[in-house]
Order: sequence, then C-alpha cells, then structure tokens
Amino acid sequence: MLTRRTTLSKFLIEQLKNSPDGQALAALFIDIAAAIKAISAVAAKGALEGNTGSLSTTNVQGEVQKPLDVLTNDIMLHHCDWGGLVAGMASEEMEQPYDIPAEYVRGRYLLLFDPLDGSSNIDFNVAVGTIFSVLDHGQGAAPTAADYLQPGKRQVAAGYAIYGPATVMVLTVGQGTHGFTLDREIGNFILTHPNLRVPEDTDQFAINASNERFWEPPMQRYVQECKAGKTGPRGRDFNMRWIASMVADVHRILMRGGVFSYPRDNQSNKNGRLRLMYEANPMALLIEQAGGLASTGRGRLLDEQPQSLHQRVPVVLGSRREVERIEQYHREFDAGTDKPFVSPLFNERSLFRPEARA
Ligand code: AHG
Ligand code: MN
Ligand code: MN
Repeated sequence: MLTRRTTLSKFLIEQLKNSPDGQALAALFIDIAAAIKAISAVAAKGALEGNTGSLSTTNVQGEVQKPLDVLTNDIMLHHCDWGGLVAGMASEEMEQPYDIPAEYVRGRYLLLFDPLDGSSNIDFNVAVGTIFSVLDHGQGAAPTAADYLQPGKRQVAAGYAIYGPATVMVLTVGQGTHGFTLDREIGNFILTHPNLRVPEDTDQFAINASNERFWEPPMQRYVQECKAGKTGPRGRDFNMRWIASMVADVHRILMRGGVFSYPRDNQSNKNGRLRLMYEANPMALLIEQAGGLASTGRGRLLDEQPQSLHQRVPVVLGSRREVERIEQYHREFDAGTDKPFVSPLFNERSLFRPEARA
C-alpha cells in the first residue's frame, strides 16, 4: 500500500533522530541515494550508451578501467561534493583523495567508495554494485591523507547498492542492517528488508576456487572439508556460489546466509584481493550489524588499522559459526596443531591410489 510505505528519508530521520548531527548524516544518504539512482539508470542502459569494453587507462591498482568505472566515480563525486556534508572523498578509481572544491562548503564526513564493484561483469549483464563507507572527520581543517586511515570500527555508516533485476540499497548507521528497493516509477527507495539477519549456520560457501592451490593450508582445509560433504568431517553436503561481484555475493549471504572469502594466496593476492577501506570495511560493518562475523582469518576485520588508502586485506565474512571455524583453522595452523583433512578418495583403500589400480 502506497500510504504505508517507509521511504529512505522517513526511515533515516526516525533512526537518526537522537544522534548528534544525525540530520547531516541523513542528508548525506539522500545525496548518495541520488547518485545510486543515476548509476542504476546508466547501468540499466547496458550497451545502448556505448559504455561497454575497456579504456586504455588503469587505476591506482593497475587494473584496466571500464568506461563505467570512470563515469560512476564522477557521478558519486558530483552528487556528494556540493552539499556541505562531506570533508573529502576517496575512491578505488582515484589515487589521491578528492578535495572539496573551494566554492563549496566543507562538511564533517569522509566518504569512501568503490563506485562500480564487479566491473569485470558489466559487459555480460551480471549484477554489479556500489559500496560506500562513511567516516567522521569533524568540522574543521581540510582532511589529510592520514585522516582517512581509520579502522573500520569507527565507520559511522556504510552501505552498498546492487544493480540487479531490481536496484536495492542496503545500509547501516550502526543500528542494524536494512534493505531498500528502488521504486523506479516513483523514484524512491522503499524499506523492503528491515533488520536483516545472517543465519548462524550455513551450507553455502563463496570463493574463487580456481586459486585453491595458492591458498594457505587453513583455507584449503576448510574448502576441502566442505567439498567432501557427507563423507567428510563436516558430515553434510555444501553448495558453492561465486558471482565475482562482491556486492552480489554478500547480498546473497545477507538474504540467505553463507560464508564469503577472498583469502590471501602466494601468487597475485598476497594480501588478499579486496580493498580494506572501501570494500572490506563497509561490508564487514553491514555483516556484523546483521549478526554475522567478518574476519581476516586471524582477527576482526573492523579492528584492522589501515596503513594506506588502497591497501588490500584477506576477507572471511558471513554466517557466524563458519567464520569462527575458519578462524579456528588459522589458529591451529599457526600453532602447528592442525590436522589437514585427507579425502577418503585418497585414503589407503582408495581406488585412486596408484597401488590400488595396479
Ligand atoms: P572491482 O570490480 O571493484 O575491481 O572488484 C571486483 C572484486 C570483487 O567484487 C569480487 O569479489 C572479486 O573482485 C572477484 O575477483 P576474481 O575475478 O578473482 O574472482
Ligand atoms: Mn570492488
Ligand atoms: Mn570497482
């Protein structure tokens, strides 16, 4: 019923009515929501606007940029720089933070974002997203690069938008995790998924298993045990999903449960693949606020002290008990007390053993 629906602004004003400076934070969300609506419209055009393929430019991480990486970055910047709400912005697509132009008033928040997450999927019409994190800088001097380097536990808000069949924005201001669906006819985000909760247990894991041979033993152990299913130490079957858009994988976990990991490896992801400040931290806050856990494998993600704006970090997040199990495997490995799992397919009586086949 149209008259009973909770719009994003109504929800935010209600949630933030007792927090100091809550109105400014609500106003910032309205600007972010406007940017997300613009990105949603651009993404929905697909190949019609000539936004497919790659550019000849690379970003600070050396990744080839897509036209939409650059366009969505500009959309975020120019929806949020003029309103007197942010002190500065940082993005996956910019080496240095963006200073608020002199003609605009500087606000108190630092806004960090990945404007287009999963951009390798954009040409194939697979869901992509935008991830954002809000830190407090306080009113005053222009922020230095060091002012951005706050641990994730100091985020005042975080969220993402997923551009799938529907555009959904999921956010937290530290009072639970809530989902809003864009009603395109009206142009409003409507509260459709209040108080999301990640189930404690799961039988789904999400990981790029093509890197398995490069992982550390505790991750190999965890995934091998899942894959062994009923006949393995877990005694039940698991299912695997990997969309290669973090936003889409995390969204599924928030709706259905599961564990997501992009671990470190000994090849091209020595510190993990995902960026701490604008991918891992906001997702970690959303997952914790929904009752899940987010870890590096060796400690709480939100406690990580960032050393640089674009640093990467190993990520394990989702259903509480699975994340705890993966942390336990890391502890056992580090202490030298782990017992790596050997599949029954390769045990002494296995048909796969060379001597059994001889
Ligand atoms: P981005 O498109 O912003 O660079 O992020 C892509 C990330 C993340 O969304 C996803 O989980 C991961 O990269 C996929 O990595 P693989 O291609 O190694 O699977
Ligand atoms: Mn990303
Ligand atoms: Mn990106």
